[in-house]
Amino acid sequence: MNIPLHISQIHESRFNQKPLIVRSPGRINLIGEHTDYNNGFVLPAATDKAVYITLSASTDATCHWFAADFSDEFTTTLDVLQPSPKNWPNYLLGIVEQFQKMGHSIPAFNCVVSGDVPAGGGMSSSAALECATGWGLANLFNIPLDKLTLTRMAQRSENEFVGLQCGIMDMFASAFGKHNEVIRLDCRSLAYEYFPLELGDYQIVLFDTGVKHSLASSEYNTRRQECEAGVALLQTLESDIHSLRDVSEEMLLTHQRKFDPLIFVRCLYVVQENERLLAACEDLKRGDLETFGQRMYGSHNGLRDMYEVSCKELDYLVSFTTTEKSVLGARMMGGGFGGCTINIIKADAVDDLFERIQKAYKIAMGLDLKMYKVSIEDGTSILSI
Ligand code: GLA
Repeated sequence: MNIPLHISQIHESRFNQKPLIVRSPGRINLIGEHTDYNNGFVLPAATDKAVYITLSASTDATCHWFAADFSDEFTTTLDVLQPSPKNWPNYLLGIVEQFQKMGHSIPAFNCVVSGDVPAGGGMSSSAALECATGWGLANLFNIPLDKLTLTRMAQRSENEFVGLQCGIMDMFASAFGKHNEVIRLDCRSLAYEYFPLELGDYQIVLFDTGVKHSLASSEYNTRRQECEAGVALLQTLESDIHSLRDVSEEMLLTHQRKFDPLIFVRCLYVVQENERLLAACEDLKRGDLETFGQRMYGSHNGLRDMYEVSCKELDYLVSFTTTEKSVLGARMMGGGFGGCTINIIKADAVDDLFERIQKAYKIAMGLDLKMYKVSIEDGTSILSI
């Protein structure tokens, strides 16, 4: 189905107006997990799976919003903003609030939302929706906005309105994505560099565990606090420490005995993951995908054993691939406790592998495995159809 065409037709028939159409993609992350909120590095990319929104100014001072994928309507005015129990409108409301905080009043608007980012798969459909809304409203109402401000307001909207203390990676990848390139983002300075991802005969494939354990958001916030506790201790021992980004493995080892062992191992994971990512970028520059893939396994092992954000379903899928010649690398992706694994697999072996891993997963976990082949595409943009 041509989603943008489909929803612009819905928009025209519901509201009798020709809409503006915005696309903002879901993201993958090759390596560098749980590093963004520690001021570290990440290596995400935008994908072909995206959220789409159509927008036009309302004619009756009330917003009429429609989620086409589940035929759900929402109406509101924009004078007093309150989180909705429906959940999906909150991603739009949070963005409106950010505009208001920046001193822009947003007139009532109509919209239709749809997309093909798998829900719960850990590709950040929420960040995509926030970016699409922000970019679209700025265009519709002639508000000057650059993409860096867009990503910052999307992150604040998620932190303040939706209530999730996420980092900036997801929004940044959705907004700044570029066809066939991954983004090495320094989450401290927000400096970024594009790296071509030349996969040759290989392909990026996600395996979706089909689970999202309820621990996900509480443990996410706990990990943040554990890292902050590590930083607070180091600040009493060393000068110029603002985040784990300012910490080396050597420094950590020097002070190991002063640490609570759990805090120590969390911090060590983050420091090692940053190092792994920088080395992985060098692998990409040399075209050494094999070593890159090994670092993905290294990342998974750290997330499983040291940072403890994996789960048995993710571990099963990653471990299954370790004896597969066609797989260069695999690891859990995103916050953890469910969602997808990301894999680099020889393109002509993908379907056969999927058949076998799907059967094995069903027997081992009693769950249906889904697979998404992803390509790397451009970030947030206005579409014309
Ligand atoms: C989630 C968050 C991101 C990032 C990842 C872990 O996707 O939204 O900001 O912290 O987890 O790398």
